[in-house]
Amino acid sequence: MDVLIVGSGGREHALAIGLSESNSVGDIHCCPGNFGTAQIGTNHDIDISDINSIVNLSKKLDIDLVVIGPEGPLVSGIADKLTQIGISCFGPNKDCAQLEGSKLYAKKLMRKLNIPTGKFLEISNHEEIENNLSFFKPPWVVKRDVLAGGKGVTVTSNVENARAAIKNAIKLDGLVLLEEHLEGEEASILVLMDESGYSILPASQDHKRVGDGDTGPNTGGMGAYSPAPIVTPSVSSRVDEEIISPMHHYLRNLTNPFRGCLFVGLMIDRDGSPKVVEFNVRFGDPETQVTIPLISTDLGIVLDSVARGNIANIDLNFHNKAIATVVLASENYPNKPILGRELIGYNSIIDEGQIRGLIHFSGTNVDTNGNVISSGGRVLSATGMAPSIIEAIETAYQVINSIELEGSHYRKDIGKGAFYK
Ligand code: AMP
Ligand code: GLY
Repeated sequence: MDVLIVGSGGREHALAIGLSESNSVGDIHCCPGNFGTAQIGTNHDIDISDINSIVNLSKKLDIDLVVIGPEGPLVSGIADKLTQIGISCFGPNKDCAQLEGSKLYAKKLMRKLNIPTGKFLEISNHEEIENNLSFFKPPWVVKRDVLAGGKGVTVTSNVENARAAIKNAIKLDGLVLLEEHLEGEEASILVLMDESGYSILPASQDHKRVGDGDTGPNTGGMGAYSPAPIVTPSVSSRVDEEIISPMHHYLRNLTNPFRGCLFVGLMIDRDGSPKVVEFNVRFGDPETQVTIPLISTDLGIVLDSVARGNIANIDLNFHNKAIATVVLASENYPNKPILGRELIGYNSIIDEGQIRGLIHFSGTNVDTNGNVISSGGRVLSATGMAPSIIEAIETAYQVINSIELEGSHYRKDIGKGAFYK
């Protein structure tokens, strides 16, 4: 199969590596890709928002399978356009993508299906604000009903800030969600799903805040590891029973069923009760970097089966390993990242038998002089894969410490809370 991957993050680089190791896969193309994907396949300079050009390129290249990384093109209906012309697409159709595209839609569906999640209120005019604020205890969670890359949420114990965030969202979007603040620890579960069945990938844990000790603003994700011990076998079976199974029942019975990755963002409380924070309709970044390399089955066959509605016939196997990844971000990320700086040490790899370290590139490009330069807020993630999670974390840090990028920063505590007690 010739495959086209849409996106330009570390997630897409990890998918490209996995697909390049698959016997079923021939040529690999990326739209637009990054420095990492260019080492594996052919990059095409098309923006992810230009879905018509991506569809035309797939036709022109006679692509067999298109794998969509980010949510934007899915919410815009790229899967519908590709399947209309007979090209398999990993990633759900436009209607199913509303699960991520609209937080309100997702919350209402969870309420209807009785899926555990926090309470919420929808606010669309200023007169409702005070009453609704008093309905919840602080901290308040104010969430915009738009795609915002994990950055559309304000969590604050300052009522002035909560009020300002609500007013700002109403001005921009016409409405806003006020949510119950969920306490506990977060975990991400990626589920490969189509109408024939689903397969749950090993759970991972992202680190959303920019600073050590979970401080500072939310980001797209600063580092992750898998498997995540917070998802014990008993938590896992509750997530399956109370969340994934009812979601699958609903999504498989739609006229156009869900085919792709359902990303379940969870909050797990002290008693091990899981609640949904959010659904995404795609692989996570950086969760993909720590999850996809754990799959030992041919990735091309796995993704193509989902795209064809045939996952139930795939025997999915995993390596008995642990993976950790640490994100290197540009100066000022997540606010206004400073881009265009030269990356030194980008060839870092570690290959010591069972222990492997590598770079998953994200916002990186090559300038006219042939230098690798930063072109995004998250520049790369340094990934370690090893028999134990401690070795994996140490390997990831060994890789990131050998990279230089002026003004860049990364978290020093990835996995600390879980593994260094
Ligand atoms: P979202 O915008 O739904 O992707 O949320 C981004 C991040 O904000 C989540 O990963 C959580 O860290 C935090 N968050 C969102 N909703 C809640 C909530 N109801 N309670 C606690 N934290 C939340
Ligand atoms: N790492 C969180 C996400 O991909 O949404």
